[in-house]
Amino acid sequence: MITPHGGKLINRVASEEEKKELIAKSSSLLKVNMGLKELCDVELIACGAFSPLTGFMKREDYKNVIENLRLENGTLWPLPVTLSVDKETASKIKEGQEVALTYQSNMVGVLKIEDKFEYDRDLEAKSVFRTTDTSHPGVEALYTQGDFYVAGEITLIHFLLHRKYSEALKPEESRREFKLRNWQRVTGFQTRNPIHRAHEYLLKSALEISDGIFIHPLVGYTKGDDVPSDVRMNCYRELINNYFPVNRVLLSPFPAAMRYAGPREALFHAIVRKNYGCTHFIVGRDHAGVGNFYGPFDAHKIFLEFTKDEIGITPLFFDNAFYCYRCESMATCKTCPHRDEDRLILSGTRVRQILKDGGELPHEFTRPEIAKLLQQWIIESEKSGASKVGGGER
Ligand code: ADX
Repeated sequence: MITPHGGKLINRVASEEEKKELIAKSSSLLKVNMGLKELCDVELIACGAFSPLTGFMKREDYKNVIENLRLENGTLWPLPVTLSVDKETASKIKEGQEVALTYQSNMVGVLKIEDKFEYDRDLEAKSVFRTTDTSHPGVEALYTQGDFYVAGEITLIHFLLHRKYSEALKPEESRREFKLRNWQRVTGFQTRNPIHRAHEYLLKSALEISDGIFIHPLVGYTKGDDVPSDVRMNCYRELINNYFPVNRVLLSPFPAAMRYAGPREALFHAIVRKNYGCTHFIVGRDHAGVGNFYGPFDAHKIFLEFTKDEIGITPLFFDNAFYCYRCESMATCKTCPHRDEDRLILSGTRVRQILKDGGELPHEFTRPEIAKLLQQWIIESEKSGASKVGGGER
């Protein structure tokens, strides 16, 4: 089994004994209410998905991640994992103190404060997102959050998201499952969109050279106009049941927050899937991108800046996939010699427009079973006046 990032899987979930103690103590602790992004982070730190992190980043780790994509000890780590608070809350928090982490009035865990610091938003935005343009959802979130970061080790008392998404495997569980299935070569797949034939093509290409694939759709925080996770989960199930050998696929929701940080997030997604036990990871066109902020293959290039050993998991790079009418199959520029006019390429915006107008998505673009689910969702959300339903909440 592949070694977790940093050497071992972290477990920051309180034992039954600790839970009782922490719950008893929590009523007297200062409460720090988290958003959905931070809730995702806390649960993923606790179950080891973010190994070797044991909590929210202290200033030296944060600084190194921003500047060098590394933790203070040199371990490769591309994204900051931080907890912001406003000035007033920060003024009540001192080093050494324990605070209760809550989400919508639910007790989630405890943070032992080891550091508190102000940060430079412009620097973080430029380094992580390569822009300070607030039309980028990650930048917008950064510019509207509190002015201070509080940091230290966390202890989780209750999983909220892993309970909501009961099929969400924790790294220990997916690793156990891969072992049980005798999968040595496992390819991980990150997605936040409904599954179309381009995704299916990447998955099947990977399946040709893998023992199994781990379809791991992100279901935590996504921006408001992304398709909601329950609709997407139904699409993934439908596709797997109709078009895949089910014993060679493992589907599990990934309760994480999208940052839309393109290249850095692609590397992050790969490292985290290594913690789940994957040996390979698909990186296609504009992985974790948004709008036109990143070049279509910037997310491939970033992997080349680090050694294979420190990344640990092997990226499988894919070119832009499309349906070619002359090949009569899915293809990429690497396999198809025809012209753009022979190819079907639909943008996300165009797909949404077709669905809104009550049109049919071509079967060369999406399987009819998936198109039907998406049409039903659009009709229902238009009826309820919520055509922009999505993750949205931060
Ligand atoms: S992402 O934000 O999670 O990357 P999405 O769900 O659209 O978005 O993509 C999942 C994976 O499929 C990513 O690796 C992405 O690069 C890849 N991908 C999506 N569409 C295509 C396509 N048409 N051609 C090649 N790769 C693609």
